[in-house]
This record gives sequence, structure tokens and C-alpha cells, in this order.
Amino acid sequence: MRVTIRDLKRMKRDGEKIPMITAYDYTSACLVEEAGIPLILVGDSLGQVMLGHDSTVPVTMDDMVHHTKTVVRGTRKAHIVGDLPFLSYHTSAFDAMRNAGRLLKEGGAQSVKLEGGQSQAATVSRIVESGIPVMGHIGLTPQSVNQLGGYRVQGKSLKAALQLMEDARALEEAGAYAIVLECVPAPLAKMISERVAVPTIGIGAGADCDGQVQVFHDLLGLYQDFVPKHARRYANLGDAVIQATSDYISDVRAGQFPSDKESYTLGRKVLDALTDHSTSPV
Ligand code: KIV
Repeated sequence: MRVTIRDLKRMKRDGEKIPMITAYDYTSACLVEEAGIPLILVGDSLGQVMLGHDSTVPVTMDDMVHHTKTVVRGTRKAHIVGDLPFLSYHTSAFDAMRNAGRLLKEGGAQSVKLEGGQSQAATVSRIVESGIPVMGHIGLTPQSVNQLGGYRVQGKSLKAALQLMEDARALEEAGAYAIVLECVPAPLAKMISERVAVPTIGIGAGADCDGQVQVFHDLLGLYQDFVPKHARRYANLGDAVIQATSDYISDVRAGQFPSDKESYTLGRKVLDALTDHSTSPV
């Protein structure tokens, strides 16, 4: 049985912190599941770390469905959240429900995430009414990078902080089961977390959120282009991959790979017959 939204709400009530990580493919999903992660986000951050775009804006529904399926195949227990990409829920309630439905029906996710607070509350409540759990996402909302003018901490002025509190309240009222707070000053994230009954999941929002989410590649040192301030590297797999690949290149060039251990052999009789055959005149 997978982790459910009831489990996540209970974790908040019990003061049990909720760890969440992104995953975008079968192999990484198997590994993070093996480590015991309860909550996985197939984030549209795959636009940058898997597809090489410079933002999440170009990511499509087909991209999200494709990657979500692979993560679902690699897991049995974790709750899988599929991210709704830019413009997949803004154009109409019909599109929002159809696309959220695709992430569950085709992708196999258990819930969806979308960006925006008060302005998206009506959409959240329509999706929730159709039986699809929704995780909200406020603060720095990367799909609006062009509107925000860059990836910046949000909610720093009194007006902006009050708006974020209002956004969180509107999402909770609309039926969101959890809310991501991205790049929000820690004291504000703490106040929001205390004021809503649903779990808050922070990324760059301090230690007082009910859970934390990090991008797989940031945590493991796999994405070398940019390391956000809020990320902690638990491993340097990028350096390990470069070193391993360069050792492989050297071994191939020096004729040291493959060795007998990595090669398949042929039975003596077949080998002798083959040798006779290939040396006899035609
Ligand atoms: O797409 C993503 O990875 C996200 C997280 C940063 C919360 O939305």
C-alpha cells in the first residue's frame, strides 16, 4: 500500500517531519524508494535537469506523463506526485481536470501539484472535487519566472508576506492536501505552517515547515550548472561519474578493458573446429 494523503496529514498532526525528493526515471525512483522516501515529486524541474531546457516553461504534459510512468514503475510504497506543467491548468477548468486526470490515469501518480495561490484556488477546488488530490505550490513559482523577473526569494515585504499567508489559506480552503513553500523567508514559512492544518513542504523555506523537498540532482551533486543556496550536497556523484567515465576511456585506449573476466568464452571443440575452418583454403 502506498503512502496516502491521510498518512501525510497524520504526520503533520503527530509532528513527524515529511521528507520528499524529486525523481524523474525508473532507476532513481528505485533507489530513493529503497532508501525509504515516503513522498516523491515528479517535478517539472525535469525541464532543466533531464531535458536541458533553461526553465520549466517548455515542459509539456506528454513529458510529465512519460516521466511519471517511469517513476511509478520503480516504486511500490512512496506516494507519487505528478507536477502539472506551465499552461496545462490555466486555460480552462476542463483542461485543468483533463490534464490532472492524465497524470493519474496514464502516469499512475496518486496526486498532482500546481503552482499558484489565491488565483488558482477555484482550479484546485474543481480538481479536488473530481477526486484528484492536489498539492499547492506558492512562494517562488518557477513557471512564472518571466513574470517574477528571475528566481528570487518571495514574501519579503509586508504586503507580499500577507499575500502568501492569504494564498496558503485559500489553497487550504480549496481542498489542497499539502502546500509547497519555495524560497520563502524562514519566519514567514513558520507562521504559515502554524496557521494551516495541511502539511507545508519547504524548499528554501527554513526548518519549521512540516516537510522538506529537494531536487534529486542537487542533493547528489549531479547537476553542475547551478547549485541553489537552499540545497545541501549529500554526495558528489557528478564528480564520481566524470572520474569513472574518464577511467573507462583510459582503459579502453590502453587495451585494458575488457579483460577475460568481462568477455565470453567459446568451448574448446568449437574453437578448434572454427580455427581449422577459418585457416583451410576455400
Ligand atoms: O519541479 C520541482 O522540482 C518543484 C520543486 C522545486 C518543489 O516544483
